[in-house]
Amino acid sequence: ARLGVVLVAAGRGERLGAGKPKAFVELAGETLIERCARTITSLPGGGHLVVVVPEELAGETLALLAQFTDAGSLWELSVTPGGRERHESVRFGVDALPEYADVVLVHDAARPLTPAALFERVATEVRRTAASVIPALPVVDTLKRVDANGVVHETVDRAPLVAVQTPQGFPRELLAAAHDRLGSVSAPVGAEQPTDDAEVVQRAGGTVLTVPGEALAHKLTTPGDLTLLLALLNAQGP
Ligand code: CTP
Ligand code: MG
Repeated sequence: ARLGVVLVAAGRGERLGAGKPKAFVELAGETLIERCARTITSLPGGGHLVVVVPEELAGETLALLAQFTDAGSLWELSVTPGGRERHESVRFGVDALPEYADVVLVHDAARPLTPAALFERVATEVRRTAASVIPALPVVDTLKRVDANGVVHETVDRAPLVAVQTPQGFPRELLAAAHDRLGSVSAPVGAEQPTDDAEVVQRAGGTVLTVPGEALAHKLTTPGDLTLLLALLNAQGP
């Protein structure tokens, strides 16, 4: 049983607005791709990491990854072009994994400080349960439903709500079948594009379990997140 990890890094990073795709932005001197790849290639047991990037940046990505390909490593690395939507990028990544990867972790490059312990927690739970597993954190703020003008309608009970993160883990066949189904079955009228893989699996009728998430798995979305991630990084010490 070896891991396949799909690192999705093919988004345009429009909300960050850094003038380049987010995954290629540096946090304290190192790109998000490098930070994620270092953590993933430190995981015990080895496997295959495929990094999904905008096609024109494939060469640059290989150069960034060269530092993680040493002869003694249990990890193989590859780069593959992404799609227009996140779920397309994931699908291309899963298709690029070798046969032996029977458990797949899908991770956003935009979560550069995610600790190795979270990857291990998710992978262990997938193996234990043979189900899909995602990291989740309780929602701490009071939640309100508002109308288009921002007028409050009501407070929403937050007890049954969680905020979810990546890496999300899946038995490989289950994830591949769910993505195939998404591609072949027309979505219900008004259905949005799925924003995570757990949603893809649920649309195919699969059960998704949760494990505790990590504050360090925070996603870089807007410029304010850069400040927050730098603070989290500095709080970790040298
Ligand atoms: N992603 C991807 N392919 C896409 C869209 C997103 O690989 N077509 C990846 C992003 O690179 C990111 C992760 O999915 O690591 C989460 O997506 P998001 O935070 O939305 O990143 P972007 O799409 O790059 O940002 P934005 O939506 O602001 O343009
Ligand atoms: Mg996006």
